[in-house]
Amino acid sequence: MPDDQEVHKGLEGIIVNETKIGYVDGQKGRLVYRGYDIETLASKSNFEEVSYLLINGKLPSREQFSEFNRKARERMKLPGNVVEFIEKNCGHSHPMSDLRTVVSFLGALDANSNSSDLNLQKSMGEDIIFRMPGIVAAIKRKWEGKSIIEPLPDLGMAANFLYMSSGRKPTEEEEKVMDTCLILHADHGSNASTFSSMVTISTLADMYSALTAGIATLKGPLHGGANEQALKMIKRVGSPENAERVIGEMLGKKEKVMGFGHRVYKVYDPRARILKEFARSISAKSGKQELFETAEAIEKAMISKVGGKGIFPNVDFYSGMVYESLGFEENIFTPIFAFSRSAGWVARSLEYVSDNRLFRPRSKYSGEMGPIEYVPLEKR
Ligand code: ACO
Repeated sequence: MPDDQEVHKGLEGIIVNETKIGYVDGQKGRLVYRGYDIETLASKSNFEEVSYLLINGKLPSREQFSEFNRKARERMKLPGNVVEFIEKNCGHSHPMSDLRTVVSFLGALDANSNSSDLNLQKSMGEDIIFRMPGIVAAIKRKWEGKSIIEPLPDLGMAANFLYMSSGRKPTEEEEKVMDTCLILHADHGSNASTFSSMVTISTLADMYSALTAGIATLKGPLHGGANEQALKMIKRVGSPENAERVIGEMLGKKEKVMGFGHRVYKVYDPRARILKEFARSISAKSGKQELFETAEAIEKAMISKVGGKGIFPNVDFYSGMVYESLGFEENIFTPIFAFSRSAGWVARSLEYVSDNRLFRPRSKYSGEMGPIEYVPLEKR
């Protein structure tokens, strides 16, 4: 056996494909979708348009956009059997487990879900994105023991998501904040969940399978699950005066501080910068200034202690505070992330499978070479 095989754990630094969808410049703190800076899209666009852009490569014409929106509004209303499924089966484990199961169930209902035809894959992908606000809102309501609400025909995805979650039409400001959060989380290179979706579609499995895999992978606390843990930690720290001490203790015990650090960004995550300003203004309005000040004190302590190692706030540090102010419990933060990332999962899965190569990395074997003599069970 050759012993010169270099192991790249976690495929770190390995380039597995070429993409035109998005670019993360981890040294400069720049995030680009299809050539547009994230700051531009966050201030000028909306989630529907960004989803179209990620999937199709160009901003839509007015006709294309109205057709895309028409489909989105039509599909946001969940079919009766999906509502029934959520009513019967969700609300027990974690909303991310619910979401993973419901998206998989959508695949079981779609007769096309055995096809790997590219046009069908695209239409399945769009369907899943359009159904996401209804599904996540329904799961949230189920967890709260409340009845599931249908979407309103005149609202877009962000506003309808807030409406279906709370039963109240959001203000313009709430809609803008939600829409921006969806844009900021829509795509981010070959992260673990996107890679997982791409691996799945590379077997020519269907888009439901690819997105189910993406959701499953996003669940973990080292990835999408960090937003929930980050807010819990900020609350545990409790006040700005405690930050320096608690962070010192955590780092002393080699504990990971959730919402900090990134495999690619070695400077401030540009998405965290935008979310921090939302968190600042929302906390001032909702009387939660101390929570924001605690978060800022944690950021200051972290940067002074480990900023030199390239550890700064990531997208998950301030997003939880923003979601909480919009009326969401911590366990719904990662499902919201999945809702927005569905656009990137679909776009990247389609791009990968349109020039497909089955993923099949190798492992370096370091076990016994034997041959070891087999001892029958009764003699062991
Ligand atoms: N808190 C404390 N120390 C950290 C942190 C952190 N959040 N992140 C990295 N470090 C330290 C490590 O302890 C390690 O120190 P050492 O060299 O003294 O042993 C060093 O930095 C390198 O750590 P790695 O985990 O190898 O760095 P990696 O580049 O793999 O980090 C990761 C990426 C997994 C995101 C990591 O920063 C982390 O676990 N962060 C906390 C979880 C989190 O916020 N995840 C969300 C990421 S964004 C997203 O997925 C949407």
